[in-house]
Amino acid sequence: MIGALARKFFGSANDRRVKGYQSRVSAINALEPELVKLSDDELKARTAEFKQQLASGKTLDDLLVPAFATVREAAKRTLGQRHFDVQLIGGMVLHEGDIAEMKTGEGKTLVATLAVYLNALAGKGVHVVTVNDYLARRDSGWMGQIYAFLGLTTGVIVHGLDDAERKAAYACDITYGTNNEYGFDYLRDNMKYRLEDMVQREHFYAIVDEVDSILIDEARTPLIISGPLDDRSDFYNTIDTFMPMLVKKDDYEVDEKQRTVTLTEGGMEKLENLLRDAGQLKGDSLYDVENVSVVHHVNQALRAHTLFTRDKDYIVRDDEVVIIDEFTGRMMQGRRYSEGLHQALEAKEHVTVQPENQTLASITFQNYFRMYQKLSGMTGTALTEADELFDIYKLEVVEIPTNLPVARLDEDDEVYRTQNEKYAAILAEIERANKRLQPVLVGTASIEKSEVLAEYLKKHGYKQIDFGSESGMDKLYAAARAASRQNCSRC
Ligand SMILES: Nc1ncnc2c1ncn2[C@@H]1O[C@H](COP(=O)(O)OP(=O)(O)OP(=O)(O)O)[C@@H](O)[C@H]1O
Ligand SMILES: [Mg+2]
Repeated sequence: MIGALARKFFGSANDRRVKGYQSRVSAINALEPELVKLSDDELKARTAEFKQQLASGKTLDDLLVPAFATVREAAKRTLGQRHFDVQLIGGMVLHEGDIAEMKTGEGKTLVATLAVYLNALAGKGVHVVTVNDYLARRDSGWMGQIYAFLGLTTGVIVHGLDDAERKAAYACDITYGTNNEYGFDYLRDNMKYRLEDMVQREHFYAIVDEVDSILIDEARTPLIISGPLDDRSDFYNTIDTFMPMLVKKDDYEVDEKQRTVTLTEGGMEKLENLLRDAGQLKGDSLYDVENVSVVHHVNQALRAHTLFTRDKDYIVRDDEVVIIDEFTGRMMQGRRYSEGLHQALEAKEHVTVQPENQTLASITFQNYFRMYQKLSGMTGTALTEADELFDIYKLEVVEIPTNLPVARLDEDDEVYRTQNEKYAAILAEIERANKRLQPVLVGTASIEKSEVLAEYLKKHGYKQIDFGSESGMDKLYAAARAASRQNCSRC
């Protein structure tokens, strides 16, 4: 209550910060009549002038007002879009290394160009981070027109590029790409031996679009590069042939509850002899240091034979051992047990033993993005994560007012007691929209939930169309056309 009152009199910290940019907004606006008169070439020449001024001691902050005015003029001439005043403020927040929170549709893509251009003048490369390849391509092509007009180069990093193409894209003044591509390029560079083979240069300045999803939701996702170890399938297969020779209780003991299995003295001796005869034992004893890895794999083979049951813990399909998730009972295609256990199961089931992988390099997004000298971001909603963004990255969230009052109705969440009540309400909402001939996009949190909902809809007379097939959309469009003909009296 007191907080709300105080805000009324003094303005919130956010309001004060936003107001603080006003004088520079006015200064940028004041330059417009002058810049309008310049020819395209004269406008472009300002880039070289700015770089000169930087070389002779001016700072990026000194150049903010004239540089922003230049970008705005270039955007007018290339895209026919003039940055709104609130967009200039967003650009300043980005330049200061914080987060500009601007409602969806407020034009964050265009906002970024201001800070991108200004910081690119330093010549150290500016990275714009998008959530997917499509946006990287779209935004670099779209905003690239402004940069090209002003004499700067733009590169884009997407999936499938080779090293030479990546290097060329990073050498550009401005680079667009996804967090995954930036992260993996960094890891791959770290595994190279020669500087000239590396594709990235500095980590000078990054602007992260949809910053909450990249820096919070995916923060701890590790990026991992792994590589195969030497092929040792013979070794696994040899050890596997010994397993049926071991006798429970005499040679090993199983603790079902703890899910562990241990060799007895007798079992150890038996294996030592078998291994020696097979030429797999180095030195005299199984427990000599040279044989540490042999012991490890013997234990894994033993576990594979005694603790893991086919069709319960895993299934064998198409020459592969596929793990079954113990909680959901689903097949976990592509997942492998680590530390040689999967290979031991493959040897046990007489399928092809695949090479082991080892982690060669890994980093989390959090640690990758903290390497940038300056980091900033944009999003439609970050205030709920503001504390976390500040704690982890020292990023402050600044809420930028909209250009025009918001006309959209932002409704509150609806909460239901049970799943069935919720599905019934979803169905009712879809029916209402259907009567208005309004298409509905229904999103859920998981594939399973989507499937449940799809089943529910089918039960209530809806048809399912497979959009994986090429003609999927045709049926949908045909249905929509038919419906609109039926309902349009003048057609
Ligand atoms: N100053 C401007 N003048 C005219 N049109 C603009 C301006 N700024 C942005 N737009 C247009 O507004 C639309 C929305 O822009 P954009 O996609 O960048 O919004 P956004 O803030 O990134 O939204 P989202 O949160 O959904 O990603 C685009 O079509 C863009 O061209
Ligand atoms: Mg956007």
